Amino acid sequence: MKSHPFLLTDHTAERLIASAILAPSSHNTQPWIFKVCDGGIALYADASRAMTQNDPDFRELIISCGCALYNLRVAAAWMGLDTHAKIVDHWRDDGLLATLTFSEATTRSAEADLCVAIYSRHTYRKRFASTPVSSQLVLDLASAARKEHAHLHVLNTPFQREALGALISEGDCAQWANPAWRKELANWMNPKRKGDGLPISALAAPIAHLAVRTIDMGEHVAARDKHSAFEAPLLTVLSTASDDLRSRLHAGQALERALLTAQVAGVQASFLNQPIQVATLRAKLQAVTGSADVPQMLIRWGVPLEQLPSSPRRPLESVMERRV
Ligand SMILES: Cc1cc2nc3c(=O)[nH]c(=O)nc-3n(C[C@H](O)[C@H](O)[C@H](O)COP(=O)(O)O)c2cc1C
Repeated sequence: MKSHPFLLTDHTAERLIASAILAPSSHNTQPWIFKVCDGGIALYADASRAMTQNDPDFRELIISCGCALYNLRVAAAWMGLDTHAKIVDHWRDDGLLATLTFSEATTRSAEADLCVAIYSRHTYRKRFASTPVSSQLVLDLASAARKEHAHLHVLNTPFQREALGALISEGDCAQWANPAWRKELANWMNPKRKGDGLPISALAAPIAHLAVRTIDMGEHVAARDKHSAFEAPLLTVLSTASDDLRSRLHAGQALERALLTAQVAGVQASFLNQPIQVATLRAKLQAVTGSADVPQMLIRWGVPLEQLPSSPRRPLESVMERRV
């Protein structure tokens, strides 16, 4: 059956973008801009929000935009629309990543069922319940990644956990030993009212900033992160065949598809990406996966023990440019 092009109104664009901005992003930088154009929405990376120490080649920035792109697709599916994304081949100075157009769907997409999870998904950094992640869900997560041209490696054996724990610790120590990295982290620890960054209480902010800037807490953070890797019910590495712009956008869409699939099943995740962020450790992590694919995200999964408040988002007006 032939699908009909859909003329996007400003109101519909607003609803789609409101869902897109609930996507996860590195340090909650929300590095995206959406421009409503005739017939669609253009997604731009906002390089002014890049973390140049933590993410010098914008890899996590592009993955974050990929997550937002997936939310757009799911919200569109929920509205009965098919999305057609034209993705650019290379990084452009203006940051354009993809242009999306929409058509009326002829059949209902199963992805519409993920829409509700956009609103309840959160990064869960605390201890998980001891409940295992079901083998059916593990298969579903792997399938979600595959459908978005990525691969989810399950790394649950004691040997793999040991190796991952060591790499995560090494990554933590390397990052915290770098004063410029610590300064950047402090700059992205913000009171909730600011609307971005990792939320901390307004009262504690000055002390926390000073502590992070001046004290190397690498050993302490390494011990904590190693422990949370060991006790996670499920540990995985999301990887892609290569590491170009398209692959990174695939990684973001695969990540969000898997996160929403998990959320529907009552499972949440958080990330221990240090061995990917520290360039010298990435090849070692790749060796642990036993695959030639490039690691993009190291993810721990489990059933949350409590419901946490949502992290803040910038207002829609700050990230959306309307048609003139
Ligand atoms: C590409 C990417 C990298 C991330 N890396 C980390 C990380 O290394 N450690 C961590 O605790 N959270 C990480 N996060 C999670 C973000 O901090 C989180 O998405 C953001 O604070 C917004 O919170 P929310 O996911 O609860 O909406 C990452 C998210 C993305 C998309």
